[in-house]
Amino acid sequence: MRQRPSDVPTLPLPSLSEPSGAPLPDEITPLLGNRTPRQFMRRYWQKKPLLIRQAIPGMSAPIPRDDLFELADLDDVESRLITHFRNTWNLEHGPFAPDELPSVRKREWTLLVQGVNLHDERAHALMNRFRFIPDARLDDLMISYATDGGGVGPHFDSYDVFLLQVHGKRRWRIGAQRDLSLKPGLPLKVLQHFEPGEEWVLEPGDMLYLPPHIAHDGIAEGECMTCSIGFRAPSARELTAQFLYHLAERAGDESNAGKADVRYRDPAQPPVAKPGELPALLVERVGAILAKLTWNEKDVAEFLGSYLSEPKANVVFDPPSRALNEQKFVERAKKTGIRLDRKTNLLYNTHSYFVNGEAAALSAKAKKWLPELADKRRLEAKRFVTLTDDSAMTSLLHEWYRAGWIQTDPPA
Ligand code: SIN
Ligand code: CO
Repeated sequence: MRQRPSDVPTLPLPSLSEPSGAPLPDEITPLLGNRTPRQFMRRYWQKKPLLIRQAIPGMSAPIPRDDLFELADLDDVESRLITHFRNTWNLEHGPFAPDELPSVRKREWTLLVQGVNLHDERAHALMNRFRFIPDARLDDLMISYATDGGGVGPHFDSYDVFLLQVHGKRRWRIGAQRDLSLKPGLPLKVLQHFEPGEEWVLEPGDMLYLPPHIAHDGIAEGECMTCSIGFRAPSARELTAQFLYHLAERAGDESNAGKADVRYRDPAQPPVAKPGELPALLVERVGAILAKLTWNEKDVAEFLGSYLSEPKANVVFDPPSRALNEQKFVERAKKTGIRLDRKTNLLYNTHSYFVNGEAAALSAKAKKWLPELADKRRLEAKRFVTLTDDSAMTSLLHEWYRAGWIQTDPPA
């Protein structure tokens, strides 16, 4: 049996136990170097890097090294192994059985584990500290483990990232260079010409914020662990493709609901001597069908809410093995309150709510509690009691509970 490494301490962090541990917009916080989130967003977010010493004083790894290795062995966890042995970059995708990882005594390798927040309560609580940024933009918390000299090479990312050192030391070099050309023929993105302008060694609790496209290279000085709190910013191309798909799906729903699906027709098509030629009539008619596509802001919001609350493809919920019936569920929730499962995404706007990719209208009754559940990710017992006279609500929440989307008991 493997032992827990004694060199990766896991100090309790009481302040991280609250599900919504993020600073308020005008609250000065050490997390942002004694700035308020408003100041940070105005001066740095998407604009320039910021080094924050002791963003989280007393920081330790949210999970021990061996537990991270165990996560990397699971099918529903995305992990990558990057080695730089004999000066050669190599990339492998997980899952990794314990004996497939190099020895922790071997230098220059890194294990990256994505979405640790979905599997571990401390990592989830740590990511919640960044909820001064909308959930619709937050992606996940990745943990990288590296042995001495390990790193992923000088590169840039297309997303904002907070790089929080949680164990050991890492030397970061960064530069705002224009030339972002990559070395050809490598299995990972490594810059051809890295020109670092600044350099720091980060210790546990120190954090570096980087906006997109800043060149950076982090090299472990001894064994180290770094948490990357990453964001999502879909490209215009991806958004367009997904939105058009959403519109097409919606059109399908409308036609199923009784409206006739418009299909291409060509009663005026003459016979042809050049069968290979694309008929101009066809182009004109299809153009006319497409020109009828219309949408408004509500459609865009509905698309975004569903798209951005959709769990990633590898996410699997764990429904309760012996689910309580609705009455017992309500009795229990009146005592314990409810909380969203770590994997649940719940967004809302004035008209609708979006839960794990599904959109629904936000009724006047649901407006009283659902935004609170989405913002706090939990409803306290006494708040839950106030909605129990509404059977539509309790039946909806019971459905979510049976699907593993919410729980009544406190987090494990
Ligand atoms: C790492 O933590 O090793 C890499 C993170 C990054 O550079 O984006
Ligand atoms: Co990076």
